Amino acid sequence: MNAGPDNDRPLVLIVDDEPLNVDLLEQELGAENYRTIAAESGEAALQRAAEARPDLILLDVMMDGIDGYETCRRLKSHELTRSIPVIFLTALSDTFEKVRGFRAGAVDYLTKPFETEELLARVGTHIALRREIEAHRRARATINVLVDEIRAEHAAMIGKSPAMLKLKSMIAQVGPTDSTVLIQGETGTGKELVARAIHDASARRERPLVKVNCAALPRELVESELFGHEKGAFTGALQQRRGRFELADGGTLFLDEIGEMPLEAQAKLLRVLQERELERVGGTRTLKVDVRVIAATNRNLQAQIDDGRFRADLYYRLNVFPLAIPSLRERRDDIPLLIEHFASRISRKLGRPAMLPSRFVELAASYPWPGNIRELENLVERALILGDGHARDAEELFAAAPIASEPPAAVPMATAASTLEEMERAHILRMLDATRWQIEGDAGAAQKLGLNPSTLRGRMRKLGIRKHT
Ligand SMILES: Nc1ncnc2c1ncn2[C@@H]1O[C@H](COP(=O)(O)OP(=O)(O)OP(=O)(O)O)[C@@H](O)[C@H]1O
Ligand SMILES: [Mg+2]
Repeated sequence: MNAGPDNDRPLVLIVDDEPLNVDLLEQELGAENYRTIAAESGEAALQRAAEARPDLILLDVMMDGIDGYETCRRLKSHELTRSIPVIFLTALSDTFEKVRGFRAGAVDYLTKPFETEELLARVGTHIALRREIEAHRRARATINVLVDEIRAEHAAMIGKSPAMLKLKSMIAQVGPTDSTVLIQGETGTGKELVARAIHDASARRERPLVKVNCAALPRELVESELFGHEKGAFTGALQQRRGRFELADGGTLFLDEIGEMPLEAQAKLLRVLQERELERVGGTRTLKVDVRVIAATNRNLQAQIDDGRFRADLYYRLNVFPLAIPSLRERRDDIPLLIEHFASRISRKLGRPAMLPSRFVELAASYPWPGNIRELENLVERALILGDGHARDAEELFAAAPIASEPPAAVPMATAASTLEEMERAHILRMLDATRWQIEGDAGAAQKLGLNPSTLRGRMRKLGIRKHT
């Protein structure tokens, strides 16, 4: 027997306690290349449907034993038969009966006596629709698997050091709650990664994680970005626009670099965090939002408060569950693992072997990593690019890395006395000196620091770094 073409012919289950009706339907459907099977009662139909999984069921309403409606309800409540479309065949033509059929889960009905043309048209349409839905569902499932893979690859939080295990366990504890989290850590330590991990560990994971980079918000647009605006709210507001809070409704709002937020915007943010409601700019309607907030900063907010640059009341709103991300220096045990992880990922991206210069791991172990994991990731990428063809050795790579060939003792280490800002300032100054204050270009300070030139200039302004100081 040739199973291929036969399996392509749709299978219809005919349920009717009147053998003559069954015969007639079998003939009509058979002539149109359908395969058919039959059942003479509701009970028999349930069994046949579960065994044969037909593409469609034609179901009589009035039968001895369980009637058509009950049969349909049971079909719809079983995993195996739930998705099979059911068309009722009924002699009852009043609206009440038809609606009952739909309530029981049918997709359509035909009133007896019916025209063959109409029967075939409806059967054909519903089978085609069902196949579309199935194809769509399979595609969805494939996409979900791929998305999970990509997510897992990019969200993989590598690390087995005690500091990392503690961080992971805290993420697992706070993730499923709705509590506000304040993530603090040096640049490149993985704050954004942690924010995503918290979101993914929550019931909101299927809802959006919306990021706001508070450092990149133009002062005059902060409000409109966060809360949206109505059409005509200000010059240039040509269209109504939803703000980040609204976009994150049901999900998580990630306020990155919160320490950079202008003071006036801080006041407005505070209000939304307290009330969980907002108005769009130029709007009068109050909108309720259900948003979980995660904020991150590489600044010492306490010091910012003392300087009058951050509102204490906002700080206490945000600092419900503080998470301190350890610097790479505080978890050197993880360095070999991280190198292996990035080497394999980046070599795949570059299409090159994951071969690092000898002594790379050894030198990495004592390097101070001021740029933390991002710096390590960049250095591995550089090594893999240069490694090909060039007999570069690891010393050269580490010598070209930001801290040049300075002795490690000169590198700003995190001590109780040095704030993050002091370290950053010292490091940027050193880099500027090493590049003779050249900011742009391949040999410039920005490149060596792994920053955009404009970002570096911004940092310099913030830290009050000027030439000849
Ligand atoms: N534990 C980790 N395992 C693997 N990769 C990590 C880990 N932590 C961070 N990364 C990677 O390091 C890079 C920097 O991480 P991320 O952007 O989250 O840092 P950040 O703290 O937000 O930095 P910044 O302060 O500069 O914004 C990213 O590519 C991230 O995927
Ligand atoms: Mg970040």
